[in-house]
Amino acid sequence: MVKKIIDPWGSELVEDYNKLIKDFGLETFNIKDFPKPNRLMRRGVMFAGRDLKLISKCIKEKKKFYALTGIMPTNDKIHFGNKMVVESLRYFQDYGAITYILVADLESAAARGISLKEAKKRALNFHIPAYLALGLDPKKTVFYFQSENMDVVHLGFEFAQKITLNEFKAIYGSADPGRIMSAVTQVGDILFPQLKETMPGIVPVGIDQDPHMRLTRDVARRMKSKYKFFLPASIYNKYTPALNGDLKMSKSKPESCISLPEDSKVVCKKIMKAKTGGKDTLAEQKKKGGEPEKCIIFELFKQHLIEDDKELNKIYKNCKKGKVMCGEDKKLACDLMTKFMKSFNKKVDKNKKKIKKLKFIKFK
Ligand code: TRP
Repeated sequence: MVKKIIDPWGSELVEDYNKLIKDFGLETFNIKDFPKPNRLMRRGVMFAGRDLKLISKCIKEKKKFYALTGIMPTNDKIHFGNKMVVESLRYFQDYGAITYILVADLESAAARGISLKEAKKRALNFHIPAYLALGLDPKKTVFYFQSENMDVVHLGFEFAQKITLNEFKAIYGSADPGRIMSAVTQVGDILFPQLKETMPGIVPVGIDQDPHMRLTRDVARRMKSKYKFFLPASIYNKYTPALNGDLKMSKSKPESCISLPEDSKVVCKKIMKAKTGGKDTLAEQKKKGGEPEKCIIFELFKQHLIEDDKELNKIYKNCKKGKVMCGEDKKLACDLMTKFMKSFNKKVDKNKKKIKKLKFIKFK
């Protein structure tokens, strides 16, 4: 078996999602396990996970569980990967999950050199309002900063005892001190909600974060005699591909990457140059049709821009039949993206004003 290391801090591309499922022993996501699957679930964007049955059981039997994610305030923008995580959280929140969002300010300091003060400012002014703008219910969401949560810090120190350097290297491919600190803290985050009461939990993440989930599950197993933690479940989304067809958008290639928010005019220019599944000439495309499977514009429709399955299907068919050409689809993508950005910005501003009313965990 080829054991490819996925590095949550790196930029290695994942070519074959099925191979990942095999290599890492993931469960394939089964749409039948979840009621009213959301857009990402219906379209195979959520493609795998760990212990998904446990969560599906909680939903069906209305048992307590939690859903959690962390915000890295390293940038003044977020990306489509964050959007997918929020949409998954929202799904579980709708089915009763106690929802936690933590600001990974200790990780930002240890791994990226961002001061705690700066991290806090960014999180309150942008990241938290942005996550709310993408659909979370502020009344049902609990927030904290890693640096203020001594329980998390203490758990991290305790968990450090249970991990060896070699094991860390095997999971992550490297072992920088900053990464070790960040990883044990993250394990603390993920298990923290179970300190008061053990219950299943789920962490929706991009597939590159799976190493953290493996580590957390290993630690939880080793702590069984003391804490009786449920091993946390996880659910993974595929990447939103870069506009040039690369597997993942990357800020290092801004012409192929769309951030949230971004100026609509700039975004539309990029969209106009995106890779499509079109033929060399219009005449040929009209005759033979295009290939939506290879088209990044179609992928944007599928993952983010078009909610209605029938509408998406129509676009697919019209492309296949050569009825609608790439230019027209690009124009539609640009219009929908402009609408999305406008509404996103508006909601971010609205949520900024609500920041004082949010439920931050109080620490003594
Ligand atoms: N490491 C995560 C990132 O890079 C942030 C994070 C910290 C996190 N704690 C977490 C994510 C707990 C999920 C769960 O984005």
